[in-house]
Amino acid sequence: MKKLLFQFDTDAHPSVFDTVVAYDGGADHVIGHGNLNPGNVGALVDGAIFTRAPKTKKNTAIFIGGSNITAGQELLIAVQQHFFPGFQVSVMLDSNGSNTTAAAAVAKLASSKSLVGKKVVVLAGTGPVGQRAAAMMALEGAKVSITSRNILNAELACAAMKARFNVKLTPLQAADDTERAAAIKEANIVLTTGATGVELLKPEHWQDNPHIEMLADANATPPLGIGGIDVMDKGRLRHGKIIWGAIGFGSLKLALHRACIAKLFEDNQQVLDAEIIFELAKQMA
Ligand SMILES: NC(=O)c1ccc[n+]([C@@H]2O[C@H](COP(=O)([O-])OP(=O)(O)OC[C@H]3O[C@@H](n4cnc5c(N)ncnc54)[C@H](OP(=O)(O)O)[C@@H]3O)[C@@H](O)[C@H]2O)c1
Repeated sequence: MKKLLFQFDTDAHPSVFDTVVAYDGGADHVIGHGNLNPGNVGALVDGAIFTRAPKTKKNTAIFIGGSNITAGQELLIAVQQHFFPGFQVSVMLDSNGSNTTAAAAVAKLASSKSLVGKKVVVLAGTGPVGQRAAAMMALEGAKVSITSRNILNAELACAAMKARFNVKLTPLQAADDTERAAAIKEANIVLTTGATGVELLKPEHWQDNPHIEMLADANATPPLGIGGIDVMDKGRLRHGKIIWGAIGFGSLKLALHRACIAKLFEDNQQVLDAEIIFELAKQMA
């Protein structure tokens, strides 16, 4: 029986990246649907849960993606609300790689050094990756702040993570190089999760900082999020600090994403969201 993955995307065009990884993770067919929301997803879920016998339902699964993590979270809840005993399929949430990228970055940082009690600043942490990474580090026992160019965005991101994970994050405004340098002054760990191709930190802002022990950057497109590092850095020491570049931890992200897709087809009960994906990342890291 063919393994079918239904890619439910909150954006107009289902993510090509997610389609490729879905095939590489073991799906036989990937069927993408765009512009989905809680109001229009019901019939698609019904089609997934009613069509196969109990023993073979594990060969149908749902992947939720898109650039908006809040919309993704709402779609995951709506999909699950259509399930009832005996009629459900496995489902995974990974809007913009939020869970798999965040989990890989945080698991690699945690594999280098304990995060417990550390002061962490997630620069430009208001996107899907930054929000989830901040929450995961807080769950690991770190004291985490999220910066944004606009304090309101940072406050909204912290409130969203409080609502979802019951973690206390601190919102900070850091709109330019000077404010970002000030935001990381007392930090032990810095993670940059800004938009593709945006430099957030210059070398002189971190290289001589005596408090900083580790830095990681999610942005693989030049210019990198952190000046003075290499995208391939894999826990490399630079200026006495442990550095994880975007491709340095990106190989774990891809392996993790594929492993999660494979896991979806193990049975029809899986709900792969941040907690389970992060646990898997720590095992794989
Ligand atoms: N390494 C990997 O395996 C991997 C996998 C997936 C994604 N990624 C990368 O992870 C990063 C984060 O992804 P995402 O989807 O969470 O990012 P995103 O939503 O596109 O951007 C994150 C935040 O960056 C800030 N930002 C946007 N333009 C900026 C600018 N010109 N200057 C300063 N800040 C700016 C915005 O925050 P405010 O408006 O609140 O300031 C935004 O919320 C991206 O670089 C993406 O390419 C890496």
